[in-house]
Formats: sequence, structure tokens, C-alpha cells
Amino acid sequence: MSTPAAALDLARTGALAAIESATDLDLLKAVKIEHIGDKSELAKASQSLGKMEPADRSEFGKLVGAAKAEVNAAFEAKSALLEAERDARVLVDERVDITLPYQRVLKGGLHPLTILTNEISDLFIGLGYRVAEGPELESEWLNFDALNIPTDHPARTMQDTFFVEPLAARLVLRTHTSPVQIRTMLENQPPIYVICPGRTYRADELDATHTPVFSQVEGLVIDKGITMADLKGTLDYFARAMFGPDVKTRLRPSFFPFTEPSAEVDFFFNGRWVEWGGCGMVNPKVLIACGIDPDEYSGFAFGMGLERTLMVRHGITDMHDIVEGDIRFTQAFGTGAR
Ligand code: FA5
Ligand code: MG
Repeated sequence: MSTPAAALDLARTGALAAIESATDLDLLKAVKIEHIGDKSELAKASQSLGKMEPADRSEFGKLVGAAKAEVNAAFEAKSALLEAERDARVLVDERVDITLPYQRVLKGGLHPLTILTNEISDLFIGLGYRVAEGPELESEWLNFDALNIPTDHPARTMQDTFFVEPLAARLVLRTHTSPVQIRTMLENQPPIYVICPGRTYRADELDATHTPVFSQVEGLVIDKGITMADLKGTLDYFARAMFGPDVKTRLRPSFFPFTEPSAEVDFFFNGRWVEWGGCGMVNPKVLIACGIDPDEYSGFAFGMGLERTLMVRHGITDMHDIVEGDIRFTQAFGTGAR
């Protein structure tokens, strides 16, 4: 049987070796339980003191005390070392590099044309108008015939209009927002005050003032005693709201089969007159076709180009900028983060 001193030395060296080999704080904690705790060999050696003769006890007690002190010191030193290592590692692992470029999330925004459409709708809603809508894929009848545009009218050729197959279905991509006038008059009794913004299509080349896909806003008023003066007053109000009090506009006599008399409205921009839209008093033939008595009611209509409105308002000299979707252009209108 081993002597108490030999057993103590074994416990001491075993504890020191275990402390030495612990590579992290969790392992060191387990080492403490096994080699320093109440049930460890070291504790047993300490407890065996009680059963010893007083003479042996004092000498062995010194040995136990020295062994415990050595093991405890080794434990504390190792514990301090492992804690320092852990703290250093956390500093590295959880480090935030505030100089790294961050992932910029662009904020969505409305396209300038949508902003303009909303603004125009608000303006006319303020005058008591209602917003009406119609489909972009329209029947040839509503786009042309019901508007008194004859079959042989040049606008009805493939050169100007996108016909949609099968041709027998007689559907077109609407060339203007005026078919919404017909839809509105067929579905409603006067008094009618509507504004109809929407997308329109024509086989036009993209140039500084034209695009094959563009937007119009149609206005239609049918009531008792409506005259050309009401039309002029409404257009002036519209133009000033859009372009400010100093805008230069002019009315030019023109022809549309669905209005009589008809006019075109131009504005002065970039050194020249640009056509803003068409207008006129609703042709009595159109009223009759829509079941409205022209002896009781009269009305006016207008249709303006929205891209061109945007051009004047923001000094855009080339239509390409509006339709090409370059973010650098739309950002100037608050679309997307900068
Ligand atoms: C019409 O479309 C008629 N429906 C307007 C109207 C309505 C007259 C109600 C009478 C009563 P016009 O073809 O002139 O008219 O077109 C109207 C406006 O649409 C033009 O003045 C212009 O501002 C815009 N526009 C026409 N074609 C294009 C295009 N390719 N690109 C951009 N804007 C266009
Ligand atoms: Mg025109």
C-alpha cells in the first residue's frame, strides 16, 4: 500500500498535469471538480489528516498545505491565462469594422410621370371632377368609330396605330385617352365632370418630343350651358397650375372629328412652340351616339400629353430621358436614395 505522502504527491502531480493540459475554460472547470473539489484525491489526503496521530499530523499537514497551495496557484494562473485568451478572441471575433462600405438599400419611389398624374388628378378632384379609367387594349370601335373618326381616316392606318392580332377581333392599343370619353358617356348621365389619365400608344419614332408609348390626360365635361369660355378658363387654370403664372400658351384652330369647334393648345418651350394637346366642344354627333340630347346638354373635352408636360415643368429637353429609365434621371425627382 502506498504511503499517505506518496498518495498526496500523486494527487498533486496529477492535478498539476491536468491543469497544464486544460486548453479552455470549460475543460479547466472539469479539472477543478476532479482534482481540487471535495471528492478529489487532494481533498481525500486533506481529510485523512483527521485520522492521523498528532505527531504525524503536523508534518503531513504541512505537506498537504504546500500541495494545495501549489495546485491552487497553478489553477489561478491557468484560469487567468485562459480568460485573457478568451477576451482577446472575443475582441477579434466580434469586431465591427466601421470603415467597411455598407450595403446601400435604394429606397423605392414613384416615377415622375406617376407623381405628375397624381398631382393632376388631385387638381381636378379639387374642381369636383371624378377620375375615370379605361383599358389600354381598346376596341377599334371605341378608339375610332364612336369618336366619329371615319374608316378612311389616316390615323387608322397601320403606320400610326398598333393593331393587335387576331386582326378580326378589331382591337388596338389605344392611340389616345378619348375612348374613355365614350365609355363615360355611355355609362353615366350628365352632369359629367371626369379626368382620365392613362397610357397611350402610337407607331411614332422615339425623338426629342415623341415616344411610341406615352401618356395623356383626358378631360370631359358635359352639363347644361357649357361653352368654349368654360373650356378656355379650365385650360388656363390647368396650365397655370402646371407651369406657373408666367407660362406662355396659345390656342390654335384645328380639327378633331369628335369636337366642333376644335383647337390645339401649344406652349412655348426651349425657344419654340410645342403642342401640348387637343381640345374642343364635344361634337353633337358624338353626344347623340352616346344617348345624350345635344339640345339639352353641351360639353368640352381636352387631351394633353403628360411627357411633354413633364418636359416643360422640369426643363427636360429630350424625351429619351423620360422613357429610358436611367436612375440618374429619376433620382432628381426623389426616386431612390442618393
Ligand atoms: C389627341 O390624341 C386627341 N385625342 C386630343 C383631344 C382630346 C382633342 C379631346 C379634342 C378633345 P393629338 O393626337 O394631337 O390629339 O395628341 C394629343 C397630345 O398627345 C399631343 O399634343 C402631345 O402632347 C401628345 N402626344 C401625341 N403623340 C405623342 C407622342 N408620340 N409622344 C409624346 N406625346 C405625344
Ligand atoms: Mg395633335
